[in-house]
Amino acid sequence: MRISYLECTRCGEHLSADRPQNICPKDGGVLFARYDLASLKGKLRPENLSGRVASMWRYAEVLPELQRNEKPVTLGEGFTPMLASLCGGGALPRQDGAEPRHHTSREYAGVYIKDEGLNPTGSFKARGMSVAVTMAKHYGLKKLAAPSAGNAGGALAAYAAAAGIEAHIFMPKDVPMANRMECDYYGAHVTLVDGLISDCGRMVAERKDKEGWFDVSTLKEPFRVEGKKTMGYEVAEQLGWKLPQGIIYPTGGGVGMIGMWKAFEEMEELGWIGSERPKMITVQAAGCAPIVRALEAGKSASEMWAGAATFAAGLRVPKAYGDYLILDILKKSQGTAVAATDEEILAAMRHWASLEGVFAAPEGAASLVAYRKLRASGFFRAEDKVVLFNTGSAYKYLDMIEAQQKKARPEPPAARNIGGIIGPY
Ligand SMILES: Cc1ncc(COP(=O)(O)O)c(C=O)c1O
Ligand SMILES: [Zn+2]
Repeated sequence: MRISYLECTRCGEHLSADRPQNICPKDGGVLFARYDLASLKGKLRPENLSGRVASMWRYAEVLPELQRNEKPVTLGEGFTPMLASLCGGGALPRQDGAEPRHHTSREYAGVYIKDEGLNPTGSFKARGMSVAVTMAKHYGLKKLAAPSAGNAGGALAAYAAAAGIEAHIFMPKDVPMANRMECDYYGAHVTLVDGLISDCGRMVAERKDKEGWFDVSTLKEPFRVEGKKTMGYEVAEQLGWKLPQGIIYPTGGGVGMIGMWKAFEEMEELGWIGSERPKMITVQAAGCAPIVRALEAGKSASEMWAGAATFAAGLRVPKAYGDYLILDILKKSQGTAVAATDEEILAAMRHWASLEGVFAAPEGAASLVAYRKLRASGFFRAEDKVVLFNTGSAYKYLDMIEAQQKKARPEPPAARNIGGIIGPY
């Protein structure tokens, strides 16, 4: 629907959505799009959604309104599967001591995997870029720029290509090969940086005015959040408009978490859900866990993490721009933050792949590590409904996974799963 105004999440300042905006000019706060949802209440009901397009654009009324002659820039993103987990994450050993396989009882019936790996460009980043590029086209912007840990860059490149807009992407030089390759094929201008995403962000900030780029960095424009909030609408719709007890989300810049929380507030305003909320859980890599550290220290913002290192590239964010929003959500929802080591993540990938048929991105598999830890600590009980987000596909990380395997096991038994190589036939 029509955006009423953009609101600063720090000082509450209102800005017009009639022209492109980045952050609050007063205090640098993140801007949220606000709508007159009260006028929609009662008119748009959950049952109106049935039969609509199986993409996130089924929620068009709660996304920015376009002119009659405009269409969203879409590649079919969203409305991804909500899989009832077959083995419940194998959180606890079975009574007979065996590793849980497919559950035959209701012991693990509450665990779901929201599989974002099926999105265009293989990650949930597609959702945010679909709306951000749609709005960039609406405003007549010609050149977009963003720093990226990898997948956001790939998604920006794809949607910019579909919209006929230039994309300028700055990525660490050691991102997965798939991210470099996809950006190249989508026709983006790519700069590989000997540093982290924070260094890439600085480069975009330094050059954007001179180059005439509009900055679509994480949380530095209001519309990637709008795309990602659709995950919150989908969780509710796919679970019959009853939110789960917990949501575990791999958190780098935090847009997924922030977007879903916004969706829950909007759905309450629309009268679609009540005031209940899931416990929101951030999972980060042990080699880069600024939010975990800040939460443990009782801080409302994070400190820059020195020496960030993990093969879960999307979690290699040493300081999130919206850290104050993430920490606020964790507190308000009585959630928590958990760290997963690269070894634990690799084992969780193997577990999901071999027992569920889900080949998850390392970031996504970290959700399973967090779930196991939170079951073992008693934070979640067997009967709690918990949604574990797999934010991307492992197919984008094959080089990283192989390198990580070698690190974990320098001399792996030859071709364990492929029965050796027989030749030369
Ligand atoms: C697969 C994957 N999961 C999670 C994240 C973290 O997302 P966010 O920045 O929204 O916290 C990223 C970011 O690059 C990612 O690519
Ligand atoms: Zn402000």
